[in-house]
Amino acid sequence: MARPLVTADDVAGPGEPVLPEGAILTPMARDVLRRRGLAPELLRRAPAPAPVTAAGPVAATPPAARRLVVANWKSYKTVAEALAFARELGERAPRGRAQAVVCPPFTALVALGPPLRGLAELGAQDVSAHDEGPHTGEVAARHLVELGCRFAIVGHSERRAAGETDALVRAKVRAALRGGLDPILCVGETKDERKGGRTQVVVSDQLRAALEGLEPAVVPRVVVAYEPRWAIGQGVTPTPLEVADVLAHVRGVVDRLAGAAAAGATAVLYGGSVSEKNAAALLGLPGCAGALVGGASLKAAAFAQILEAA
Ligand code: PGA
Repeated sequence: MARPLVTADDVAGPGEPVLPEGAILTPMARDVLRRRGLAPELLRRAPAPAPVTAAGPVAATPPAARRLVVANWKSYKTVAEALAFARELGERAPRGRAQAVVCPPFTALVALGPPLRGLAELGAQDVSAHDEGPHTGEVAARHLVELGCRFAIVGHSERRAAGETDALVRAKVRAALRGGLDPILCVGETKDERKGGRTQVVVSDQLRAALEGLEPAVVPRVVVAYEPRWAIGQGVTPTPLEVADVLAHVRGVVDRLAGAAAAGATAVLYGGSVSEKNAAALLGLPGCAGALVGGASLKAAAFAQILEAA
């Protein structure tokens, strides 16, 4: 039987936590305990099936859901290059159980629909906060749905770095949902925020800003992607236990915002330097419902390998 994972959220509450038999403490859980003046090694151990928190049992991948592996092509690939990718992916016919999603530049969406049918869903890399109107350059949810998009990435850190605020991210999440798209909401901390021990606060604030006030029944349409900003495009990732910690934290925050049923049904992905080499370790983590992949999704061979590992 897998040993239960105890995350920072599990040990943050009042009182002295009792650890289940065989528990593995994540690094952030150890930090929280030390900050509370509790020595992780000396805590009482109790035989229990799983660590239970105020937010419910430690995250488990939603049972019925297929894992999502999302390709974010950013500002790469012309239509011709996108079609060549689709051809090669089709030839490789990846056999994993995961659901592939390809988010190309807007300009390649029309062309990619037919060749990706049966291979991958289509997603956009952004969506307007407006349904329509005098907003030059904006692409609205209804335009994307018309092209066969099912998803839209919202609040990617590269857009936040270009000035996108929490308020705009919130408006885009709502516009996507209204227009029939499932938003892929990106959250994550900078290097300095992590060093300062602020990862959980930053992630909580971003989630609250985007999700607070949504009908609980709607919340599971939002796919959350935890993307530490310092890991994106850098070839480095947090350790699997650090990732598991934040994924569990995300689920705990969704629980507090929308209840346990919504939290259990919400897919939480990891993104940031996912490659064919680390995909199996990251995607196999408890509570990990898939991956958001940038650089490694540009090559059909690497993307197919990640799909097979998922
Ligand atoms: P990366 O990008 O996989 O190249 O780190 C991930 C992302 O930006 O979504």
